[in-house]
This record gives sequence, structure tokens and C-alpha cells, in this order.
Amino acid sequence: MNINLKSKLGRISLNNPVLVAAGTFGFGEEYTALINLNKLGGIITKTVTLEPRKGNPPPRLTETPAGLLNAIGLENPGIDVFLKEKLPFLSQFEAALIVNIAGEKEEDYLTLAERLNEKERIDALEINISCPNVKEKGLIFGTDPGRTFLLVKKLREVTNIPLIIKLTPNVTDISEIAQAAQEAGAEALSLINTVLGMSIDVETRRPKLGNITGGLSGPAIRPIAVRMVRDTFQKVSLPIIGMGGITCSEDALEFILTGASAVAVGTANFIDPSTALRIVEGIKEYMQRKGIENFEDLIGWLENSV
Ligand SMILES: Cc1cc2nc3c(=O)[nH]c(=O)nc-3n(C[C@H](O)[C@H](O)[C@H](O)COP(=O)(O)O)c2cc1C
Repeated sequence: MNINLKSKLGRISLNNPVLVAAGTFGFGEEYTALINLNKLGGIITKTVTLEPRKGNPPPRLTETPAGLLNAIGLENPGIDVFLKEKLPFLSQFEAALIVNIAGEKEEDYLTLAERLNEKERIDALEINISCPNVKEKGLIFGTDPGRTFLLVKKLREVTNIPLIIKLTPNVTDISEIAQAAQEAGAEALSLINTVLGMSIDVETRRPKLGNITGGLSGPAIRPIAVRMVRDTFQKVSLPIIGMGGITCSEDALEFILTGASAVAVGTANFIDPSTALRIVEGIKEYMQRKGIENFEDLIGWLENSV
């Protein structure tokens, strides 16, 4: 059987549906010695901001049962270094290239999008309106449908690059934000970013993170993410990149069967950098076993009763 793993996110074409998630793969450099980046469906970069950012005070990571709590605070070298050093490096790979951006205010997002607009090699921008670790500002757009709509609409006016809006789970109804993004002209959605959390050292009576709160990722959040992909898939027609705790092909298939057109591997990259590539093979095997030739036939193939 000829297995076709190609997937489409609106105008974005993927050779296969498995990507690596923002902030867990840097700008790819560290991973080239470990895996073949050409075999990834796509690379989503670490969030890039206008100015370089040092991020939050340490400690910035702490482990929790089946999860990782982080408060990196969007450490990155800024757009100038990204364009000069990181983009030329990332441009050599066959994987779709998705650049994740964030700003403190609307104009920051617009300036970033304008500066990236001229770069042909970029397949999409992932708009991070959902970072829980940047003092009060990180979530102001992503928790408010009105602000999400306005931001995406303005971005749509300054760039032709497809826009993927990255949503936060730290809301009551994620599909409301998804709908706002759709109405404003988004190409696709990424969900979920990390779940706001906190961890305490009872001996010292201090929080375990310098930022006090952080974002929870890893297998602990997977059922939350799967449920949110389902809610969104049922109410919005935009293609979805599902993420949150994916460690193997079975995890990835949960997201795909419930409506994701692609998946992204985050925290699992830290445990095994070849996770995404193993998942590609696992999906292929599953399709062979189920007699499905085209990956896109798997999307939303869920039976809705047990
Ligand atoms: C250490 C770390 C850094 C992250 N940095 C970013 C980031 O810069 N931008 C962003 O949009 N998401 C960032 N994320 C969120 C991930 O891209 C992903 O949405 C989330 O971790 C859920 O997937 P996972 O459980 O597979 O890690 C980060 C996650 C982790 C664990």
C-alpha cells in the first residue's frame, strides 16, 4: 500500500503531519547532530520578539508528576539576530518552517510580521497570544476574543504569510477565541500552550520557580489538550495543530482522530529528540494496519461513543 502522509493546513503544505513545538526545539541548531531535520513535517521556532529577551530569573524549570513546569519567559535573541543568523540556518531544511512571534503590544506583533513578510522561505507565522510566563502581558490577547480578533485582523493586513494562532488553555471556552481568530482571517490554529500552574518547596516555604507561577506541559496535560482540540474542531472549520503531552504515535493519533490536521511534539523532545520521527513511523504503521492510504482520511475519524 502506498501511504500518503501529506497534510494541509490551509495554504500550508506539510510532507508529514508531525512538527516540533515552539520553545522545545530552539532554532534547530542543537538538534542537527541528533536527528535528520528534513524528515520532520515542520519546525516551529522558539518565540521571537522585537528586542532580545533574557527571560525570567532562575529557577525556570521544575518537574511535576508526568509534567514539566516552566517559566522561561520567552528568552530569545530578538528579530535582528533571528533574521541574520537563525533564518539562514533553518532555511536549508525541507521541513515546513513556521516562525513563532510574540509582542508586548499590538504594534510589536505588526512590526515583527512586516519584517518577516519579505522572507519567502517562511511557510507560516505562529502567533503566540498565549504565553503564561511574561508578567501580566502574556495572556492579554489570547484570553479575550475581541482582542484576538483585532490583532489577527491587523496582522492579516500587514502580511501575506499564513497565520497560525496559538491558543491558551487558560480560558473558560477555548472555542470562543478560536472562532474570533477564524473570523479575522487566520489560516490555522495551534493548541494548546501550557497550563498555568505553581509548585512549592514546603521545606523552604518558597515557590519552586523564580517567576512563582509557570506553564505546565507534558503527559499531565494531554487529556486537557485532546478535549480542547475536540471542542474547537466541533465549532470551528480551521485546521488545527494539536499539542500537549504527545510522547508517541498513539498519543498523536488521539489528537488526529479527534480533529487535528497535524501534531507538534514539545516536552518529549527533551527526553528523546527522535520522538517526532518515531511518531511519523508509528502513524504510517497505524495507517497500514487500518488500510488507510491518505493521512487526511484519519482527521476527525473518531467514533463518538464507547
Ligand atoms: C521549556 C518550554 C518552552 C516553551 N517555549 C515556548 C515558546 O517560546 N513559545 C510558545 O508559543 N510556546 C512555548 N512552549 C509551549 C509548547 O510549544 C507547547 O505548546 C506546550 O509545551 C505543550 O506541549 P508539550 O506538552 O508537548 O510540551 C514552551 C514549552 C516548554 C516546555
